Amino acid sequence: MALAIMCSGGDAPGMNAAVKKFVDYTFDRGETPYLIYDGLEGLIDGSIKKAEHRDVAGILHRGGSIIRSSRSPRFFEYEYRKQAFENLKKHEIEGLVVLGGDGSFRAMDTFSHEFAVNFVGIPTTIDNDIYGTEYCLGVDTALNTIRDALDKIYDTASTFNRAFVVEVMGRECGYLAVVSAISSGAEICIIPEVDFNLHVTEQKLKQEIANGRRYILAIVAEGTKMTDKVAGWLQMELEFDTRVTVLGHIQRGGAPTTFDRMMGFDFAVQAVDHLLKSKDLNKVVVYNKGEFGLLDIDVVTSKKYQIDPNLLSMLNVLD
Ligand code: F6P
Repeated sequence: MALAIMCSGGDAPGMNAAVKKFVDYTFDRGETPYLIYDGLEGLIDGSIKKAEHRDVAGILHRGGSIIRSSRSPRFFEYEYRKQAFENLKKHEIEGLVVLGGDGSFRAMDTFSHEFAVNFVGIPTTIDNDIYGTEYCLGVDTALNTIRDALDKIYDTASTFNRAFVVEVMGRECGYLAVVSAISSGAEICIIPEVDFNLHVTEQKLKQEIANGRRYILAIVAEGTKMTDKVAGWLQMELEFDTRVTVLGHIQRGGAPTTFDRMMGFDFAVQAVDHLLKSKDLNKVVVYNKGEFGLLDIDVVTSKKYQIDPNLLSMLNVLD
């Protein structure tokens, strides 16, 4: 049986581990692995290659994806989806593994309703915003990248008696901001999911400043679009010399952590096993409470991810 793998949407560390395992494990199972380059764009253009072991040698430590990725405006159009399906048929590919986020899964949902495609999604995004799974591949590395940056910012903030506003990624989801704020002891965390009360925080911080607080770290999720407003408030109302750091795309890159490599392996094995054994089509591999499972693509794409309330309750800065 011919199985293919591709990456779609924003890249995340650990993609290469999943791609390597996919190729090695598909061979182990006596089947034929294919690589689709450049995501959905490559699927449309037929950038598909029968994989060899050497295609995936020496890639585990690398961030990004050696088969690259894309966001594909063309895939919104039926004629290009048809072309993509013809390319799969040409290579007699019967199963497709897609590493991607919610946008990619929505695209696959549409694709699979129109054509006889059998695919398994591996939730892969630093945003960790996919319904039905506690964990998306790449998050651990992104959190460690943010932690490293925050540790460094603390050094200079505390030395210079300054306030720092650090903007983190996550699109409309505050997961990266929440976990980073908890694990770095930030004074302020602002996320799209929770209303932020400037007035209450101001009173609390003024009290702390009166008691000797000399620096402030505020983590702002990009989806709130409040970075500049918070910086202006810290400067004007709390009279801190304030600096802004937008971490940006460094959060997407870098060598994957050990955890993300192991998760990449496990996700890939789960995906291949499912494609080989089951006629139950079009699923997403999910990971909850230490166990893997499968959810229908319709369920994953129709519901919104919510941050665990227990995690939010650990964030005592949000009041
Ligand atoms: O979805 C991953 C992500 O890195 C988001 O956190 C961010 O908002 C977005 O992608 C950035 O997209 P682009 O790389 O297209 O600028």
